[in-house]
Amino acid sequence: METGERFVIEGLAGKKTLRGTIAVHGAKNSALKAMAAAVLFKNSLTLSNIPDIEDVRHMADLLEHLSISIARGAAGSMTIDTRFVSKTDLTADISKRLRASIVLAGPLLARLGHVSFPHPGGCVIGARPIDMFLEGFKKMGAAVRVKEKTYVVRAPKRGLKGAALFFRQQSVTATETFMMAGVLARGTTILKNAAMEPEIAHLALFLNRSGARIIGAGTSTIIVKGSALLSAPRGGYAIVPDRLEAGSFLILGALAARDLLITHCVPEHVASLIETLSYAGVSISVTGNTIRVRAPKSAPRAVDVKTHEYPGFPTDLQAPMTVFLTQANGESMVFETIFEGRLNYVEELNRMGADIRTMDPHRVIVRGKTPLRGRELESPDLRAGLAFVIAAAIASGRSVIHTVYNIDRGYEKVEERLRNIGVKISRMA
Ligand code: EPZ
Repeated sequence: METGERFVIEGLAGKKTLRGTIAVHGAKNSALKAMAAAVLFKNSLTLSNIPDIEDVRHMADLLEHLSISIARGAAGSMTIDTRFVSKTDLTADISKRLRASIVLAGPLLARLGHVSFPHPGGCVIGARPIDMFLEGFKKMGAAVRVKEKTYVVRAPKRGLKGAALFFRQQSVTATETFMMAGVLARGTTILKNAAMEPEIAHLALFLNRSGARIIGAGTSTIIVKGSALLSAPRGGYAIVPDRLEAGSFLILGALAARDLLITHCVPEHVASLIETLSYAGVSISVTGNTIRVRAPKSAPRAVDVKTHEYPGFPTDLQAPMTVFLTQANGESMVFETIFEGRLNYVEELNRMGADIRTMDPHRVIVRGKTPLRGRELESPDLRAGLAFVIAAAIASGRSVIHTVYNIDRGYEKVEERLRNIGVKISRMA
């Protein structure tokens, strides 16, 4: 729900004083998919390390609407019981807010033979089509109709059949959807040009521990042998740490830390960022599941960034990285190759004093180093919202960031964690 809350941030004016420890929480984009995967289970399933964020609450609402019961426990645990799942229509008002809602279509169709949903929502970062989903369902034998702006998908009487799908574009949500649909399909499903993000490999690992037969997740070819409803493994499933949260904290540290320790993360998942920041001159060291970062004394050097599917530079860290580049000496090109609407925040950074020139909807040139000044800002989407928090934290003077709702969608009480390491940030109603 829109709350109208805002963040008020007193910037550090370029001082590098952040210090202490900041813990990374469970990954939004893993938690949402694990919640959808519960539909594949014959008994109740317990998930842990679920972040307490808006998108998770929306997904829980969607599931409850399908007669799925959800019980929240202490410390981020959640038990989902899908034994009585009967409904197959995803409510429009929630689905329109949540791109991940589309991922529910795969398991629901595979289990109950029917699903209907509106065009899914989520961050406004480009067209975000669903053509590959509709084509994939058809290849698995389903009939797809569009009725009053709702997609109605029906599996054949004997259920979905395994199929060979080649994704024209690597898509995280399409890969997850069809990997899950394949678990309850007849025969073998082969996914080629599959996305390779760590959240996909983790989901497959968990499904396999529960009785699924998935080979190759984490590579570009995934083979799924159809099986029966899954059984929840002992000990449930712990959501993988959020690599985008870890990456954002790392960028903040690279800009403003005297000595910052990022804990509870998987450093390997942000290898491309560590490599890029190190090249720019940031001192980073990795031990086990922690990353230590110190901002360089003099300005880092410019570095070109091109977003790429995993393990390349993540599109979700492109906005915070652009903030970093405003503080680097020289010209950097930022090339957003995945979404066409994901550089729409740069004008706001220019208003803070950055020098960023837009070449076309996919490319900008950042010229640094430019001091930033605090401003009133509107957070346009989740990741750019956090990028504004980082920009405001290093700027001189006060910033007010509106539409905090966008940031709450993906980051749990981020202001409390940032305050603990020295960012002067407060939430105002
Ligand atoms: C997932 O989005 C994430 N969302 C995004 O995170 C993330 O930015 C993105 O992957 C890339 O890593 C979730 O996991 C819920 P895609 P997704 O389908 O799956 C094209 C965040 O802030 N495409 O991998 O929606 C599409 O246009 C969000 O947490 C088609 O052409 O992205 C894009 O160019 C934002 N047809 C490309 O594929 C389709 O049917 C990749 O999109 C589907 C996608």
